[in-house]
Amino acid sequence: MRKEIKRIKVKDLLVSKSFGKEVHVKGWVRTKRGSKKIGFIALNDGSIIHNMQIVVDFPEFDEQTIKQITTGSCLSVTGTLVESKGKGQNVEIHARHIEVYGTADPDTYPLQKKGHTLEFLREIAHLRFRTNTFGAVFRVRHTMAYAVHKYFNDKGFYYLHTPIITSSDAEGAGEMFRVSVLDDLNPPKTPEGKVDYEKDFFGKETNLTVSGQLEAELAALALSEVYTFGPTFRAENSNTPRHLAEFWMIEPEMAFYDINDNMDLAEDFLKFIVSYTLENSPDDLEFLNKMYDKELLERLRFVVEKEFIRTNYTEAIKILKNANEKFEFPVEWGSDLKAEHERFLVEKYYKRSVILTDYPKDIKAFYMKQNNDGKTIRAMDVLFPRLGEIIGGSQREEDYDRLKGRIDELKIPVKELWWYLEVRKFGTAPHSGFGLGFERMVQFVTGMSNIRDVIPFPRTPRSAEF
Ligand code: 4AD
Ligand code: MG
Repeated sequence: MRKEIKRIKVKDLLVSKSFGKEVHVKGWVRTKRGSKKIGFIALNDGSIIHNMQIVVDFPEFDEQTIKQITTGSCLSVTGTLVESKGKGQNVEIHARHIEVYGTADPDTYPLQKKGHTLEFLREIAHLRFRTNTFGAVFRVRHTMAYAVHKYFNDKGFYYLHTPIITSSDAEGAGEMFRVSVLDDLNPPKTPEGKVDYEKDFFGKETNLTVSGQLEAELAALALSEVYTFGPTFRAENSNTPRHLAEFWMIEPEMAFYDINDNMDLAEDFLKFIVSYTLENSPDDLEFLNKMYDKELLERLRFVVEKEFIRTNYTEAIKILKNANEKFEFPVEWGSDLKAEHERFLVEKYYKRSVILTDYPKDIKAFYMKQNNDGKTIRAMDVLFPRLGEIIGGSQREEDYDRLKGRIDELKIPVKELWWYLEVRKFGTAPHSGFGLGFERMVQFVTGMSNIRDVIPFPRTPRSAEF
């Protein structure tokens, strides 16, 4: 038997000059057109947004095989690589042998040639990878994830894996998913009649993590510079185009960085991810620019080139109060900024990405370094066009007494955080960090308007299919 030649990816074949050579490709049929005598199949294997054109001399193949080649079917093709005379491609394959791996009944296969809405495609998330749009989005997502690791590795940061199951609430917002193996119909009870988590798997109440920060701080106070890149979970009932119940977060944490070093790192990091992706995913970004957002590439280059504005919360409140804008939510010193306020600052007022610092302590988490005014803390949020907040971070409170004071003030159970306090007792150091919501960043870079379209299988209130 003839030895089968090695499969080559479409991406590599499209730039190959081995004309006249026999090659072997595999992939899914996007379209088939032609006459009785000759057919043209657009084959895609996901390695690149472009298809390989397969030219089929129909009379040379058996009718049954040709019939099975329909949109969505999967083929293995051997043939000759030929310089193409047709429009839209430089090479094509003249098929000699075709094996149909899997058919796709045209009456029931949901992805026919006509365009589908993103909402409809969300309902068939198991198949949406096969569209140009989601192929592009998930290749870009990969490029960005790689850029994250490259950035930190090149800078000497260590990648740290923090726990998914924890017993602490890092952000103190109480938006946690409980992890328990107790019988929910008949849980063990304490003498006071409460559920007895002492009898649960870990002997205490546990939940899915909302952030790896607290553990990352412990490592930073020994390894100097670390980062996490892992899943985080929030049971907040926010049905918005920028919230997920399960999302991926990147959290660098650095000893010896103050808030200014932290801002420098955040700005440099964001610019690197954008420019790396512009350089390494040009075809996909061009496609997304053409299809969904004509200003996408321009906006991406703008973020890379322009310095971010750095100002503080109090200044932002002044600007918002003096703005001649009808906001849905009121602007008052002391209340949290909503996306509409953040977007006004970025898109209308400064026309730049913005880093806001020194928020009121009552709207931010317990761990942020307290300023001497007694009212504000050394927080920083990075605000981007179209999204608002993309990064949240701060310098951390490294002083034991001040941190303990804040924990007590907020009635946070110390027994869940003794270890976090203890590193302030032994060789504490000024340190800082931030968290980037990865999906928000993918949204920004791909121009997709809904966060559900940049994660393969979104988890949102009342939705956990697939
Ligand atoms: O501002 P957050 O809540 O900050 C933290 O969790 C800190 N522990 C980070 C740190 O300092 N190490 O979240 C950080 C970022 C937000 O700016 C946003 O981009 C994203 O995470 N984020 C979400 N993304 C999608 N869905 C949600 N529900 C999100 N909540 C936050
Ligand atoms: Mg935040």
